[in-house]
Amino acid sequence: MMTFTNIRTLREQLKETRFTAATKGKQIKIALVPTMGFLHEGHASLLRKARAENDLVVLSIFVNPIQFGPNEDFERYPRDPEKDLALAEREGVDFVFLPSVEEMYPQPTRTGIKVADLTDVLCGASRPGHFDGVTTVVGKLLHIVQPDRAYFGQKDAQQVAVIAQMVLDLNFDVEIVPCPIVREADGLALSSRNVYLSAEERQAALVLSRSLLAAQAKADTVANVTAGEVLAELRDSIGAEPLAVIDYVEIAEFPGLAPVAGGDRIDVSERRSDVLIAVAVKFGNTRLIDNVILTKKVND
Ligand code: PAF
Repeated sequence: MMTFTNIRTLREQLKETRFTAATKGKQIKIALVPTMGFLHEGHASLLRKARAENDLVVLSIFVNPIQFGPNEDFERYPRDPEKDLALAEREGVDFVFLPSVEEMYPQPTRTGIKVADLTDVLCGASRPGHFDGVTTVVGKLLHIVQPDRAYFGQKDAQQVAVIAQMVLDLNFDVEIVPCPIVREADGLALSSRNVYLSAEERQAALVLSRSLLAAQAKADTVANVTAGEVLAELRDSIGAEPLAVIDYVEIAEFPGLAPVAGGDRIDVSERRSDVLIAVAVKFGNTRLIDNVILTKKVND
């Protein structure tokens, strides 16, 4: 495993690796797994899939300052590069890219990427500018690495939708591979921010997966159930947890993110797109997100 902090050196090594393979008559497939580090089993699942599907796996670890708002947790975001490198080594990563903020954003930086509309709803409504920071950094990483595939977790379902739109609009030659949410045995979706939770808050946070799974079961099994009915139950269930402060509870088309009207039936077999049921809820100072996606079955 090789580590790089410098963009030029990483590019040169990638070029040489592609060239060496080409001289042997092989066109290698390169995967990029972009992360902010403090890696957990969710990231490991992305790395495993990337490893299984490609010849070379590049992991980037960069806590991206421009996707954090002024009162958010950029400074205290958990970091543990040594542990991350050990996990990367175990998962068979080839190249790790660990740039500094100065390397990624030489001053002055005046260019960014903004995806319209999809970034105004859900997390974009509560975190203005967040997705501009995400698309700008992911755009830069895609440009630097030029991977064939890039892997993202579905816990950030809106992020997946926004990045897929950016790739489409700007003709990035890369396949975006969404990967399922990984949960603890008790249902809590894995997140680097889970370390902020006290024992009491962590217990309270289980209400998210419990309520979302109940919503999914209702949508799957109750004939003619409407989005409004599912939403009301979800809001009641999360609202009944004293430590939970709801930021949003929404039902939207996926990946288009247009809200599903309350009176509309939620049954995906009758819709053109999948349906996202997404929540963002604060427990103390920690804002957690979680979701389920109702997908169309092959025969629908
Ligand atoms: O999902 C994340 O960890 C970040 O938003 C990403 C995609 C690495 C961009 O900084």
